[in-house]
Amino acid sequence: MAEMPCIGILDSGVGGLGVLGEALRLFSGARFYYFADREHAPYGSMVENELKRCVLSGLEMFEKRGVCAAALACNTATAVCAEEMRRRFAFPVIGTEPAVRPAVRAGCKNVLVLVTPRTRDTARFRALLARERGNFTVFAPPRLASAIEAYAAGGPPPTLSDHLPAGRFDGVVLGCTHYALLGEEISRFYSAPVFDGNGGTARRLYACAGRGAAGAFRADTGRDGSPRVGMDDHQKGAVTTSERFPSLCELSTKNEIIFLYSTKNDSKICYEQTFFKQMMAKNAAIGRIGEKFF
Ligand code: DGL
Repeated sequence: MAEMPCIGILDSGVGGLGVLGEALRLFSGARFYYFADREHAPYGSMVENELKRCVLSGLEMFEKRGVCAAALACNTATAVCAEEMRRRFAFPVIGTEPAVRPAVRAGCKNVLVLVTPRTRDTARFRALLARERGNFTVFAPPRLASAIEAYAAGGPPPTLSDHLPAGRFDGVVLGCTHYALLGEEISRFYSAPVFDGNGGTARRLYACAGRGAAGAFRADTGRDGSPRVGMDDHQKGAVTTSERFPSLCELSTKNEIIFLYSTKNDSKICYEQTFFKQMMAKNAAIGRIGEKFF
């Protein structure tokens, strides 16, 4: 039987779960490694060289596990070092970019672009904006990604007016994958449509990783036939989805997801819970279990 294709997804924390969710809708029979570099988060206020080192070591971890492609599910990491990482690794490295073009194509003229401080200061981001025609207001909330991370770990929901500028916009670009987790709330806050790059990143990942192999993707299941969502294989006692989340098994992804953690292992389970709740919010059939992302 064909080897299970392995895909790496990297973010500083929960933001990349949105990309993972989109990818699961496209792939079948793939193994996803999700690496949340919580130990070094937030990436959005990190100096460039340090951030590059973090991304490099995350991708090396994926390389050791034999991934056929990896996504930087992080606008900041993409803006700072996507090109450099592409030169260093043999597998395709897919980036996530602020969805400015989709906002413009949707007819938005007065657009708020929310990014992290580090993304805002990159040449790549400036070039992205320069390619589009529109009236763009760029704003980089210094603490919103961390507040969303804390919310995912069980803290209070962020008060958006503490983090976001007032104003009237006809579209809002969520140029940080963390912000996309609060997409509905941000859309309500501005009474405007929001745009994120998650779907585009997942499609590109599928096009690169799945090329020629999509037909060979196969579902791999746990002992009881449910898709496996476990811990990394260096950790003992990986459990199947049904063992850990008995009520959620109807969320069949046909893929395997393995969460990798940096040394701060304090909230391993929070990632899995965040992820499932996020998936539930998008799936009407099981939406009754959870209404919000977290
Ligand atoms: N989620 C990341 C992004 O898309 C960064 C969040 C952080 O600051 O750690 O930019």
